[in-house]
Amino acid sequence: MTNKVTILAIESSCDDTSAAVVQDGLMLSNVTAGQKVHEEFGGVVPELASRAHQLNILPVVDTALRRAGIDRSELSAIAFTRGPGLLGSLLVGTSFTKGMALSLGIPMVDVNHLQGHVMAHFVEPSETLKATVPSLQNATIRHPEYPFLCLLVSGGNSQIVRVEQTAGKHLPTMTIIGQTIDDAAGEAFDKCAKVMGLPYPGGPWVDKLAKEGDSKAFALAKPHLTGYDYSFSGLKTSFLYLIRDELKQNPDFIEQRKADLCASLQATVIDILLGKVKKAVQDTGICRVAVAGGVSANSGLRDALLDYGKRYRWDVFIPPFSFTTDNAAMIAQAGYLKYMDGDFCPIDAAPFAKTTI
Ligand code: KG4
Repeated sequence: MTNKVTILAIESSCDDTSAAVVQDGLMLSNVTAGQKVHEEFGGVVPELASRAHQLNILPVVDTALRRAGIDRSELSAIAFTRGPGLLGSLLVGTSFTKGMALSLGIPMVDVNHLQGHVMAHFVEPSETLKATVPSLQNATIRHPEYPFLCLLVSGGNSQIVRVEQTAGKHLPTMTIIGQTIDDAAGEAFDKCAKVMGLPYPGGPWVDKLAKEGDSKAFALAKPHLTGYDYSFSGLKTSFLYLIRDELKQNPDFIEQRKADLCASLQATVIDILLGKVKKAVQDTGICRVAVAGGVSANSGLRDALLDYGKRYRWDVFIPPFSFTTDNAAMIAQAGYLKYMDGDFCPIDAAPFAKTTI
């Protein structure tokens, strides 16, 4: 019998099946299986995602335990993503967790996926994990001090979260101070990319092509919202109308101007995102700014954030690539802190599709 706290975590909120093992705060493994089945449909097909999770979950969990060198009898608890996400996908992770926790007689810890993204900043990878993940090998991982602001940008969400320590608790308090009223930033990237005929998910393609384009080539719509809320539907529509009008004059417009279109789109999204962060920093006086979620892999956003940091004297925190898109290490980190708080969930816990933090 060991006194170590060892947690297996499972993430299955969308189209990545992931499992990780954390022991006393050290991340021992993080294994993710993606789902290529959606590529031909230009977006995630929920029913196919659930089926792929069912196929992947056992080998992914087995591999995560093996790479961590942990036997299931050593586990203290199992953490899992309870929501938000695709209900069918979440059900696979939730049901698997229940079965395994029941059979081992250990507690379950439910984790909010969005809180997991924020907690990615506190993952401390073991030397073994670092050695197996290229993006971790030379990465400097800095953990933000509290309080800090986190720009959380993914395929389903765009939020500014205020993260503060709560006396006597391990998991910090996370308060959304602004969020999108329609589409998320990742959705804007993916949908505009689809209009240009780029594969799904389009965000990384836009990022790649934007490097060769002129970010000032096209002026796209920006929202005029007060406060810290975001909106990306107007940008998406203006992008669609620009292409529709230009194609009438020149059927090869997209092919000829793809890089410029991507650069202009990316620059507009970044401008919208960081404009609100700047306002939030000014109003709250909190100068520590972190970024999280799939879109935080965007190289333009990373560079712009570092640039804002230099210009406005913010302390900027950018997670390693492997902890930006959906992964179980971030769920393990949040789950570990909740475990330390004694915050477990009942065996009849149901997953939820929609929520804020
Ligand atoms: O966090 P995530 O993996 O899944 C959700 O929980 O939504 O985020 C996925 C989103 C997709 O919209 C994808 O296009 C976007 O992150 N993304 C990027 C980049 N890499 C992933 N967007 C822009 N540039 C990137 N390099």
